[in-house]
Amino acid sequence: MQKIEFPENFLWGTSTSAYQIEGGAKNDWSKWEVSSKRKENLKKDNKKLEDYVCGDACRSYFKYEEDFDLAKSLNTNSVRIGIEWARIFSKKDLIDVKGIRHYKKVLDAAHARGLKTVLTLWHWTNPIWFSEEGGWANKKSVDYFLHYVDLIIQELGGSIDYWVILNEPLIHVFNGYISGKFPPNKKLHFLKALKVFNNLVKAHKKSYEIIHKHFPQAQVSSTAILNYFEPAHKKCLFEKTLVKIAHYFWNEKFLNATKNHMDYIGLDYYFHDRIVFYPPFRKNKNEITTDLGWEIYPEGIYHVLKFLKKYKKPIIILENGLADKEDKFRAQFIKDHLFFIYKAIKEGVDIRGYFHWSLLDNFEWALGWAPKFGLFEVNLKSFERKARPSASFYAEICKNNGFEK
Ligand code: BGC
Repeated sequence: MQKIEFPENFLWGTSTSAYQIEGGAKNDWSKWEVSSKRKENLKKDNKKLEDYVCGDACRSYFKYEEDFDLAKSLNTNSVRIGIEWARIFSKKDLIDVKGIRHYKKVLDAAHARGLKTVLTLWHWTNPIWFSEEGGWANKKSVDYFLHYVDLIIQELGGSIDYWVILNEPLIHVFNGYISGKFPPNKKLHFLKALKVFNNLVKAHKKSYEIIHKHFPQAQVSSTAILNYFEPAHKKCLFEKTLVKIAHYFWNEKFLNATKNHMDYIGLDYYFHDRIVFYPPFRKNKNEITTDLGWEIYPEGIYHVLKFLKKYKKPIIILENGLADKEDKFRAQFIKDHLFFIYKAIKEGVDIRGYFHWSLLDNFEWALGWAPKFGLFEVNLKSFERKARPSASFYAEICKNNGFEK
């Protein structure tokens, strides 16, 4: 038996985002979900609208205290939660005092339970007025966002232990402007994609600066979703080149642009890409897959962490999880990923925490309600939460700050 023990003061947590669990938000996503184009497409695919509309979500807007109790029951010491920008500025020039008051209560409720707060300011959703003005492609977008960040600093800043300015900017760029799967649903708009990317980088850097002006000791980051790319044939020059290109654009570009404006790196890890020399250039072995057909490849997190070492910053894993309704793989998934995280720590990578995605089953964006990522199931009619067996498994690990392998 090998004892896998994590460093003292390791952050154990779960991750959620505002839109995916709160319910009742009105933003560019909620607008798109019921747009006539979307309805038509769903109908064509024989899909029911209600399975693809966020609606009341998990009602966490009202049930946040219960959710924090669940987080406590897992013996976690931290929670990653989010703020919905559209609840603070539903109109461009009007501050929603109710929204501010709400999030104050949320943050207080987490602290009252001894949970450290990791707060995401932007997780892909935008106020409707912002998207109507061109979203992140608009040159004023950065100023609009800073206006919001400035208010959060003043009103809530003292209650935020770790800041996440942006969640996975590249997913917004790619799905919003290249694949078109997410609002604003632009396909192959490469120039716009570049503009949006640059504005997001600017927004991150400037937000970082104003947060630090008010709170010099603040811990600030944005999350990056990193994939482990490897060539299927180790000696194939073409595959190796493809790996380098993919790695550069997907893993390095955002971090290189923002590395001097990050106190820690917030890592989200889900994917391994085995690159082949023939189309479609990716062929994973897929020995075990999640309900979404995503390969489970825990070793990938180790490689990604080793790569991140060069940035010489502490790393917090802010998302890692799987869609697994029957809870067949979740416990093993957690254990295997943690083992590789531990291996990276032993080899000198400065890793400070692990947050499982997710506390609850939640609205999985364009894929709707079918994927179940939660340690807790949510009944979408009664909104009752029920622990999956892997919840107690994770709770034991958090309690013991490790496990035996
Ligand atoms: C996102 C989450 C999402 C999860 C699973 C992450 O990239 O931040 O919002 O639910 O992936 O797809």
